[in-house]
Amino acid sequence: MTVTSSDLDTGTGYGRPAPQHDARLTEVGPGTPMGEAMRRYWHPVATSSGLTSDLPHRTRILGEDLIVFRTRGGRPGVVFERCAHRGSSLFYGRVEEDGIRCCYHGWKFDVEGNCLEQACEPDRGRRRDVARQPWYPVEERYGLVFVYMGPPEHKPPLPRYEFFEDLEEGESFFTELPVPGEQKVTGLLQEFNWLQGFENTMDPVHVTWLHYAHSGAQFEGVGTTGMPEEFYNPYTVSGKIDYAETEYGMSVSHRAELDKPYGSIFESHLPNLFLLPNQVTADASQRHDCLIWAVPSDDTSHRSFIAIRAKSFDRMLQMLGSVKQNGKMNWELTEEEKQRFPGDFESQNSQGAITLHSEETLATSDKGVVMLRRMLRRMVDDVEAGRDPQNVERGEAKPRTATAGYILDEPEHAPAATPASS
Ligand code: FES
Ligand SMILES: [Fe+2]
Repeated sequence: MTVTSSDLDTGTGYGRPAPQHDARLTEVGPGTPMGEAMRRYWHPVATSSGLTSDLPHRTRILGEDLIVFRTRGGRPGVVFERCAHRGSSLFYGRVEEDGIRCCYHGWKFDVEGNCLEQACEPDRGRRRDVARQPWYPVEERYGLVFVYMGPPEHKPPLPRYEFFEDLEEGESFFTELPVPGEQKVTGLLQEFNWLQGFENTMDPVHVTWLHYAHSGAQFEGVGTTGMPEEFYNPYTVSGKIDYAETEYGMSVSHRAELDKPYGSIFESHLPNLFLLPNQVTADASQRHDCLIWAVPSDDTSHRSFIAIRAKSFDRMLQMLGSVKQNGKMNWELTEEEKQRFPGDFESQNSQGAITLHSEETLATSDKGVVMLRRMLRRMVDDVEAGRDPQNVERGEAKPRTATAGYILDEPEHAPAATPASS
């Protein structure tokens, strides 16, 4: 009997075209479209408290191997890892009063890469002016050290945030992530592409499935100080979410009921910053207190940085511990427990080092992800066309405001008000 094509059940894995990722959105090395766009912004590179004048730290940002250090005089600096003399790593260098000195032949560079001394040369380097260690500008604010790796003539002011200014009595910034076994200075390394981490926040639907229906309620405070259980019902979530472009990027507001404004708002700022409301205590009167960055390290990894304004470190612990998997932190789980109670790391990391965009099947629930990608493409287009991309300011930085938080316009539906723990 002859088999005709109409008898065949197609859609098998055989003969599919080679899968691909969207390089324009994900790759960040020098000269790539996204890499050039990302280089128009400041990025966190180290925590202020962790960056002491003791030893230099090795990191990689936007595909470039860098050393971040603080001189004994107190100035933070970022330079290329390879010494401008003959390439030894400045990771093995020595931090001094006014710079960093290479271990191999004793050349010393200041935070702008100027060669201050060539220990083994006549007169300590008569021609040391011609040696310049590649460097990048840094600034320190909100408990973090930021680096600008773009064209010097396009350097914008370091952004300010209204909710991080005018601290109350007893408040300060906390930036050290309390993850056991991880170094805490150059961000928490996540071994998958930065965009997978960034766009997750604009996907509020996953919260109802992954963090509630699939793995059991993972957020602390569900049904008590946080949102009611119905908020996490995946079968009624469709239509309760509004996506909107904002001055700095976009937001998603997720209502608890179809016809009520009561709900929570998540926000993303271009190019790689997101704002989450306090999940544990849903309180519309709280002043927003936290920023999270997904800083591309290279094409297949990124570094998470967080800054929290609070009166004690307890708020950082609350933030990190607000999502638990079967009552445990992610690093406490066995592989089998991760299978039974997967969370954010399992879902995002398993998309691959860079997710394969050609293999995706986008649907209604991906509206936020689609919007965010569209905005990122516009950012890349703007840079290519010679325009300043969104959120690049000129002159003085104007403090940015937060949309993230809670809408509790219907008090009878709101959970009992509890004071913020911070
Ligand atoms: S390689 Fe650094 S001083 Fe020679
Ligand atoms: Fe999540």
